Amino acid sequence: MWGAQVGKAESARPAVKIRRAKAGDLEEYAENVQSVADEGRYTFTERVTQERKKSMGKLFGDKGCLAIVAEVGEDGRRKLVGGLAMTRYGDAEKSKHVRVLGMLVVDGYREMGIGTELMEYALRWARAKKGVGKVTLGVFSKNRRALRLYEKFGFKVEGVRKRHYYIVGEPEDEIDMALFVK
Ligand SMILES: CC(C)(COP(=O)(O)OP(=O)(O)OC[C@H]1O[C@@H](n2cnc3c(N)ncnc32)[C@H](O)[C@@H]1OP(=O)(O)O)[C@@H](O)C(=O)NCCC(=O)NCCS
Repeated sequence: MWGAQVGKAESARPAVKIRRAKAGDLEEYAENVQSVADEGRYTFTERVTQERKKSMGKLFGDKGCLAIVAEVGEDGRRKLVGGLAMTRYGDAEKSKHVRVLGMLVVDGYREMGIGTELMEYALRWARAKKGVGKVTLGVFSKNRRALRLYEKFGFKVEGVRKRHYYIVGEPEDEIDMALFVK
């Protein structure tokens, strides 16, 4: 699906395609996760290890989960600038309806509506996917942009882990949020 280029911020934005991640995306997807990790303030990931890459590869092939990318550019010069994953919450039968959401848009492509498009795609999938009932996520309390995005889509706060992380030397809470999709 190619996103429409409408609205003020989006007028300067390249056309974006949101699509399922495929095996050939793995390296670039992992690089994007690492680039956001290197910013140090948005995710608890610090290093994308080989093990993490392996589980990303598995995720791409798991029909019960979701991995999507935001791609810009023309054939031959395409580039991934964002991604969203919905992974399982462990492997217990009791919580098999839960998916854990993580997402990112790389620096330079934020606040152009790409995160919104990724989320729209992901929630359409979750609502249509048999067996998926609840989507959860964790976000740092000072990440106003991400919090606003999640609130916009109806996610509600389920709990707060006080001073759970130190981000650039400052204590920060983790906000746990969830959305019931059925
Ligand atoms: C959080 C993130 C995924 C949002 O994606 P994005 O493409 O930048 O977001 P969008 O342009 O679609 O904007 C989504 C909403 O964020 C909010 N927003 C945008 N800019 C904002 C700002 N400067 N301050 C506060 N809220 C802001 C708005 O509510 C906006 O929706 P609206 O324009 O319809 O009101 C992206 O900024 C990002 O990857 N940031 C770094 C990594 C990260 O924080 N990942 C999430 C970890 S939990």
